[in-house]
Amino acid sequence: MCGIIGYLGERNINEVILRGLERLEYRGYDSCGICVVCNGKLEYKKIEGRLHKLKEMLARDPLAGNIGIGHTRWATHGVPNEINAHPQFDCKKNIAVVHNGIIENYHTLRQWLSSRGHQFISDTDTEVIPHLIEEYYHGNFLAAVQHALPLLEGTYGLAIITTYEPNKIFVARRGSPLILGIGTGGEFIVASDATAIIDWTRKVTYLSDDEIVVIEKGNYFITNSKNETIIKDTEEVLMDLAEIEKGGYPHFMLKEIFEQPETITNTLRGRILKDNNQVRLGGLETEIIIDDKKIKAKDYLVNVDRIVISACGTSWHAGLVGEYLLESLARVPTEVEYASELRYRTMIKLPNMAVFVISQSGETADTLAVLRKAKEMGIPVFGIVNVVGSTIARETHAGIYLHCGSEIGVASTKAFTSQVAVLTLLSLFLAQRRNILHDTVRHEIVSALLRIPTQIELILRKKDEIKRIAEKYHTFNNFLYLGRGINFPVALEGALKLKEISYIHAEGYPAAEMKHGPIALIDKNMPVVVIATDTDDIIYEKVLNNIEEVKSRGGNTIIIATEGNTGICRLADEVIYVPKTKDILTPLLNVIPLQLLAYYIAVKRGCDVDKPRHLAKSVTVE
Ligand code: F6R
Repeated sequence: MCGIIGYLGERNINEVILRGLERLEYRGYDSCGICVVCNGKLEYKKIEGRLHKLKEMLARDPLAGNIGIGHTRWATHGVPNEINAHPQFDCKKNIAVVHNGIIENYHTLRQWLSSRGHQFISDTDTEVIPHLIEEYYHGNFLAAVQHALPLLEGTYGLAIITTYEPNKIFVARRGSPLILGIGTGGEFIVASDATAIIDWTRKVTYLSDDEIVVIEKGNYFITNSKNETIIKDTEEVLMDLAEIEKGGYPHFMLKEIFEQPETITNTLRGRILKDNNQVRLGGLETEIIIDDKKIKAKDYLVNVDRIVISACGTSWHAGLVGEYLLESLARVPTEVEYASELRYRTMIKLPNMAVFVISQSGETADTLAVLRKAKEMGIPVFGIVNVVGSTIARETHAGIYLHCGSEIGVASTKAFTSQVAVLTLLSLFLAQRRNILHDTVRHEIVSALLRIPTQIELILRKKDEIKRIAEKYHTFNNFLYLGRGINFPVALEGALKLKEISYIHAEGYPAAEMKHGPIALIDKNMPVVVIATDTDDIIYEKVLNNIEEVKSRGGNTIIIATEGNTGICRLADEVIYVPKTKDILTPLLNVIPLQLLAYYIAVKRGCDVDKPRHLAKSVTVE
């Protein structure tokens, strides 16, 4: 949620920290701050609001020093204001802390520390951390940190600087991601994700839970609260800088929508064998240990009797599409659960089951909690993740990466289509290993899948048409999205995209459920977006009936239909055509106009598309 950064080196500290915070701003953007050690004292600036204000302040009055930390906040405890912005300090302002995560027992700690004479000025949970370290500081700062951290319940990624040891940065993690970048000439940069590091170095170490790193010029060591020495390998980050720039687009979201022909191609690349159209998933070649026996992930999955998919938000919608795919192509009974619910439910372990967690960021707290719970119960857990090296990617038994590149726009777009593409590959793979699909059918589906990127390009060419529709409807305050079968989750996703970036109330519904309640809402003020692409079964005819029901009640219809279906016009106020594909692949095409519609409506309403209010890209707290 929040983004944290620390830098030690000879470069201009303002520039490095601000550039890093810019990259991390998608993680939270309601307030921000910076603190440096200068001549043995802590100097800081923090503000309520966006980073550009801090930037202007530092341009007028820069900070000087070689060691500093920075923070961009997504408020959990305490409203966004200057006092609650990070860093947070101890009583004497000798210790500055930036924090990502939530300290769940902060109230108890605060009461106890207050009784010991500590005075608190903010409403944050974070403020207990510097006070707790202050309480235990008796001349050895690391020892004080080692004493304090085990008393914290909850999650944290921390970067700490102090006047007691002004040449060092202390870093620690439990449940919130942190990466240490090792630069040249003895410099170090530590951050919540690699995007803030790769401007300066690509050599990194991913920190694990309960590790503490002490950094000083040219040297660092990793330890923990028991003072054990921890040796870790370094890795190289392969991310391309162009991936995290806007590349001429006004917003990351638009750029990412337009990248989808390429990102889906990258997701499919090397996973469909040219000579026989068989699917091969390298990530499932990994050997895993089940009941003390080694088995390849793919061989375990072939025999599963049940799959539980768990995820949040857009990734959960992709999971719902996956349920249709896995059941219809591979005949594996599949359930899809919100991770935030499943983590507190009774999870039932059956023989031959697998849990799949889906996450773009690989850091979503609820999804991670499900992963850990399933692993504790001895259930094999597989990941469908985008961010390489993320916590979920590292903790699953095996997994399949999306390879769709960094997604910066807070509203997920290209990750969704890549997640659906991976779930399609997984379903085809299991179907082929279980001899369920006839070869001809499999060839047809694979050929259609390979045509999807070109077909998405054709839809993207309709952007002006979609923009016109958006401009016509941008003032409405409620929208209904309807879809059936495999396109019901696409209706949910279309509605989510609209509400999160334009703040218009939108609901996704299975089209036929409308008459069980929501139909009462239909009137001329309720535009209804209906996914009505042709299908080879009876679903299409049924959706037509549902549209008739809307029209006869005066509703405005925006219909997503298959190219060439001119007959639909009689029911439509607006039609957006998409090319014909196999029924089970339609979500990959139908979601594209819905992403564009939401985008253009939000822009027309003057919303901050890439940084919608109250949201953050990576939800690392509960
Ligand atoms: C919506 C959106 C969120 C995320 C959700 C899960 O556009 O981006 O709903 O899908 O927070 O995030 P990940 O996939 O990173 O676990």
